[in-house]
Amino acid sequence: MIYNQNDIENLETRFRANLINSLGGFKSVVLIGTKSLQGNENLGLFSSLFHIGANPAYCGFIIRPNEEKQNTLGNIVNTGNFTINHILPEFYKQAHQCSAKYDEGISEFKKTGFTPQYIDLIEAPFVEESNIKFACELVQRINIELNGTTLVIGKIIKIIAPESCIQNDGLIDLEEAGSITCSGLDSYHQTNKIGRLSYAKVDKEIKEL
Ligand SMILES: Cc1cc2nc3c(=O)[nH]c(=O)nc-3n(C[C@H](O)[C@H](O)[C@H](O)COP(=O)(O)O)c2cc1C
Repeated sequence: MIYNQNDIENLETRFRANLINSLGGFKSVVLIGTKSLQGNENLGLFSSLFHIGANPAYCGFIIRPNEEKQNTLGNIVNTGNFTINHILPEFYKQAHQCSAKYDEGISEFKKTGFTPQYIDLIEAPFVEESNIKFACELVQRINIELNGTTLVIGKIIKIIAPESCIQNDGLIDLEEAGSITCSGLDSYHQTNKIGRLSYAKVDKEIKEL
C-alpha cells in the first residue's frame, strides 16, 4: 500500500486514526495517577510517554486537547505531581477501561478496581498492582498550538521497582518485570527480547553483551 498526502487526508476517520496511531511502532503504555485539589483520585491510560533526559531525569507525555478540570491535565497543573505505573498482562483490560470518559471527580481506581497506594509524602496515588512505578514533579508544560495538545514534562523524583528487574548496569529488564507494550489505541502486546549490543562506534565492531 502507498498512501500519499491526499489519500491520508481523505481516509475514513477511524481507519486514519488507527493507521496513524500505529505508525510509530510499539509504544510504552502506562497508567498515570493524580489527585485533585478537592482530594479526588484520577487514573488515566497514556501511550505517549517518552524519555527526555537522564540527568536531570526527565520524561514527557502528550495530553489530547482537554479542559483543565479534575482530570490528568487539571490535576497535574494544579498539584504539580503525578505517578506513572507500568501495566501487567493480568490487568490490561482494567487498564484499558481507565481510558473511558468518566465524569469529573469520579475515581477510575474505584470504577476499575485498582488500589491507590500512597508512598512517602508524594500526594499523587500510585497503582498498588503495578510492579514498576515512578513519581514525577511537573517542571514544564508546553501548549502545542498546532493541534491543541499539551506536552507535560516531569522530573522523576522516585522510582519503585523489584530488585530482580534491575540489571547490574541499571537497565530495567522489562520482560522479567512483565510490563506490556501497545500499538494504536486498542492493541496490547507482550515482548520478546532479541539481544543487547555494545555501544556503537564508527571504528569498532558491535558485540553482543
Ligand atoms: C491505548 C491508549 C492510549 C492512550 N494514550 C493517550 C495519550 O497518550 N494521551 C492522551 O491524552 N490520551 C490517551 N488516551 C486516552 C485517555 O486514556 C483518555 O482520554 C482518558 O480519559 C484520559 O484520562 P483523564 O480524562 O482522566 O485525563 C489513550 C487511550 C488508550 C486506549
